[in-house]
Amino acid sequence: MNLKKLAQGILLALPVTAMSLAAQAADKITLKLAHNLDNSHVVSQALEAMAKEVEKESGGSIRMRIYPGGQMGGPRETIELMQNGALDMTKGSASEIEPFAKPFALFSLPYLFTSQEQFNKVIYGDIGREMMQIPKDKGFVALAAYQAGSRSFYAKKPIHSPADLKGLKIRVVATPTTLKMIELLGGAPTPIPFGEVYTALQQGVIDAAENNEPSYYQTRHAEVAKYYAEDGHTMVPDYLLISTQTWNKLDDKQKQILTTAAQHSETYEAKLWDEVVADSRKKAEADGSQFIQVDKKAFRDALAPLYEDFRKDPEIAPWLQKVEGVEASK
Ligand code: GCU
Repeated sequence: MNLKKLAQGILLALPVTAMSLAAQAADKITLKLAHNLDNSHVVSQALEAMAKEVEKESGGSIRMRIYPGGQMGGPRETIELMQNGALDMTKGSASEIEPFAKPFALFSLPYLFTSQEQFNKVIYGDIGREMMQIPKDKGFVALAAYQAGSRSFYAKKPIHSPADLKGLKIRVVATPTTLKMIELLGGAPTPIPFGEVYTALQQGVIDAAENNEPSYYQTRHAEVAKYYAEDGHTMVPDYLLISTQTWNKLDDKQKQILTTAAQHSETYEAKLWDEVVADSRKKAEADGSQFIQVDKKAFRDALAPLYEDFRKDPEIAPWLQKVEGVEASK
């Protein structure tokens, strides 16, 4: 084929190609989801399972493309990308949502939940479902809530009581509540993105951090902070978030497919959670970590002033009351 013919061929083919792409765009949707958790994390696995279900149930017309491991930045950045219409979905822990929707601060209130059952009733029940709609006016809502166990402090030296945290630089998710929590314990709160905690601990930029067992082990923090104090100060769930701009573009059937798959992903993640906690503990111990039993009362007492703050806050107080009203039977 000579060059002229080739050029003519390309020109003739162009409008057809352009049209088919347009047609494709009309009935095929790709939802971009970015988050900061590793591929192996159970929330990642639950999101992968959800993507499969969504693709199958929509007959291939909705795809979820997942970017894990903080490729698009931390939760602050991904939530902002979502607000700007550059991203459809992300994961935010309740603490990470707090700067955008104050009532989510509740989950950073130490020792609020007295049993797993009470926590489950809140996050999967009416209170939680209502809370999931709160950030709507900030451009996103939550579609699913995931277990993330309880968070405890870990450091390079043993921690037995709040006194052992005095003067330590402790990494936190940057929220007013967590900053205050560390100050009440006498530490220096140091906000650092999740993906940088390992290096910060290794290089001595921070002395301690706090998280659940899977994040402690899977992100290799256990290698550089051998002592995990079982104070279990907070239970901070993770959430799957979707931009309202994206949500509003979907028809009812598509919304239904996403809602159902999101609910299934909750059940799936919860089923995996306990096992991954036990497994992380076992592996961390085998690698030389020490899990230390602590007197939780000392931590609870030191952190009690946060309750007074919350009761005075008109945005949070009604939610606190609702949660406290949920029966906490074991
Ligand atoms: C947990 C939680 C994450 C969160 C992380 C953090 O691992 O599951 O959603 O980002 O803690 O401390 O930053």
